[in-house]
Amino acid sequence: MVLPEEQARLFRPRPELLPAAHVPSLAHYQRLYQRSVEEPHEFWGDIAKEFYWKSQHTGPFLKYNFDVTKGKIFIEWMKGATTNICYNLLDRNVNEKKLGDKIAFYWEGNEPGDSVKITYRELLHRVCQFANVLHSQGVRKGDRVSIYLPMILELVVAMLACARIGALHSIVFAGFSADSLCERILDCGCSLLVTADAFYRGDKLVNLKQIADEALQKCKARGSPLKRCIVVKHLGREEIVDETCSKSPPPKRLCQEVQEKKTESSQKLHPKPPWDPAVDVWWHEQMSRASTECEPEWCDAEDGLFILYTSGSTGKPKGVLHTVGGYMLYAATSFKYVFDYQPEDVYWCTADIGWITGHSYLTYGPLANGATSVLFEGVPTYPDVGRMWSIVDKYKVTKFYTAPTAIRLLMKHGEEPVQKHSRKSLKVLGSVGEPINPEAWLWYYRVVGEERCPIVDTFWQTETGGHMLTPLPAATPMKPGSATLPFFGVVPAILNESGEELEGEAEGYLVFKQPWPGIMRSLYGQHQHFETTYFRKFPGYYVTGDGCRRDEDGYYWITGRIDDMLNVSGHLLSTAEVESALLEHRAVAEAAVVSHPHATKGQCLYCFVTLRDGHDFSKSLTEELRKQVRDKIGPIATPDYIQCAPSLPKTRSGKITRRILRKIATNDHDLGDISTLANPGIIKHLFNSRCDTKQ
Ligand code: WT7
Repeated sequence: MVLPEEQARLFRPRPELLPAAHVPSLAHYQRLYQRSVEEPHEFWGDIAKEFYWKSQHTGPFLKYNFDVTKGKIFIEWMKGATTNICYNLLDRNVNEKKLGDKIAFYWEGNEPGDSVKITYRELLHRVCQFANVLHSQGVRKGDRVSIYLPMILELVVAMLACARIGALHSIVFAGFSADSLCERILDCGCSLLVTADAFYRGDKLVNLKQIADEALQKCKARGSPLKRCIVVKHLGREEIVDETCSKSPPPKRLCQEVQEKKTESSQKLHPKPPWDPAVDVWWHEQMSRASTECEPEWCDAEDGLFILYTSGSTGKPKGVLHTVGGYMLYAATSFKYVFDYQPEDVYWCTADIGWITGHSYLTYGPLANGATSVLFEGVPTYPDVGRMWSIVDKYKVTKFYTAPTAIRLLMKHGEEPVQKHSRKSLKVLGSVGEPINPEAWLWYYRVVGEERCPIVDTFWQTETGGHMLTPLPAATPMKPGSATLPFFGVVPAILNESGEELEGEAEGYLVFKQPWPGIMRSLYGQHQHFETTYFRKFPGYYVTGDGCRRDEDGYYWITGRIDDMLNVSGHLLSTAEVESALLEHRAVAEAAVVSHPHATKGQCLYCFVTLRDGHDFSKSLTEELRKQVRDKIGPIATPDYIQCAPSLPKTRSGKITRRILRKIATNDHDLGDISTLANPGIIKHLFNSRCDTKQ
């Protein structure tokens, strides 16, 4: 239960963080912020000087148009300047900064005890080798390479090798299906795919190569130019005898129980990957022949760096395009300030590299700063729910970045698995992906961080490239559930339905008024769709699609996606707000709220709740939950329907798919594409147990 005074309380940065902090006070933040938005050229120009440029920009530092009524939307930072992002992440750190022997990554495998570390110098050599492999396969500047790999070092190597030769990577999360992979390969015309034989996520075996093959068959049938597939022998790496492959073999001793399960399932599920000698080549064979030197391709600051697909309201994924120069500055700078990066840090971002968080804050941002990171292959609950904290202790992690969904999952299992571990190395905690409800925020703060670590609740999007609204750990007083204040260069505004800017305390559409270096430049091959999606509704602004409230202190509170908003009797409500109220009840583990048509109110609330172990769904519990929401938000928010859900349909990144829940609520079986769901099986159950009549 969150007490009202706790909700209103400001959590101030701890004094011990201040002496070394990059931004040690709110006043300091405000000075830097002012300069960043009033003199963006000077502010980002100074930051650009810390990087290596082969040649300086020729035209203006920033040129853009945000107004569809005045012509084409475009954003150009430092056009004409040439650089290479891989050179800046690796060569510059090894040669100029003398960080060659510093650990770039501690790789922690799915099985405890399975780990490898890699220094900046080793990473540089491997990236050069793979860049040469890509060259030898005919990949050139501007070509697209699809990467479909689990969380292994080869994923980082492959993406940086693309960046080194100026090819665009399109990373597809290894939890996606063959259909999703195929769509993404076709959409941007990839000429090569990098994948792996197989891997384990917890105790679940994923035969990745088999899924990739299925995708390639589909691509071929649809005329794809893809001719080559490079396969990392990951699960089968014990068989590699060639010493030139620097991967360590998996440990001999696995937990007995798991070992048995594995042997059983691997026999059932094709331990040998399917192989087409005309298309497939082994990663380790190619690497063993490749030189460890490779001259980087000098790219324009506005050349494409990568494409990353994100779900759109139409169902078809959108290929978000980021470019070299601005993204580099933005990922590096936001990483440095938001995590208050210090050279001795061990940083751990639990996100998968298949999502933007893993691009910006596991790869590009940390490496640009010469940081040491943990790269974790497994899941938080395997072999037990203390895994995260045992990794924190093993590597003495100082900065830890995860998602509210993971926090709530661990919360469900109570404090004991957390408290079994020391966690005393932790200094800053981060949250990203969705609004974090105050209950989870406080648990993260008190139980995980022992009231010692500030929480940076970072609001941003695939499209923004980096953090937009976020506290700075030693400067910003925090409020549980608020992403607080804008990052450098970010000018937020709140608009009403007519597009008027609201001043002071207000609630409405969150938009941004001027470009920051990390903003996406287009949707790959669909520039018009880019203009309509983000710039058409309110000309002159980048529209996030999120609802937002600004409080009396100027703090921003994301209220959820606009389509998660509902209007009950003329009052705007955010489903996230109602969910947060439900989650404060001791019986509730997860909650999702959708709007439901209502004869007199227009819309009403239909709630799905997953209960904690030891609680039963009953009439009296439903009444308690109703009262809880009513007490917390007001009678207007009283739920009309509360349905018990053993689990909620989610995307593979852990986002609850409210689109599907809306259909279930209205008994509409026309679900559209459900191939990207992690647990489609739950849908049938939820349809069968709908609340048909008002309780
Ligand atoms: C959407 C973007 C940014 C990396 C992961 C998600 C929601 C994200 C927060 C936050 C409230 C958040 C927004 C946003 N979101 N972070 N800290 N507080 N909402 O990337 O898949 O592009 O999703 O996630 O709704 O628009 P994405």
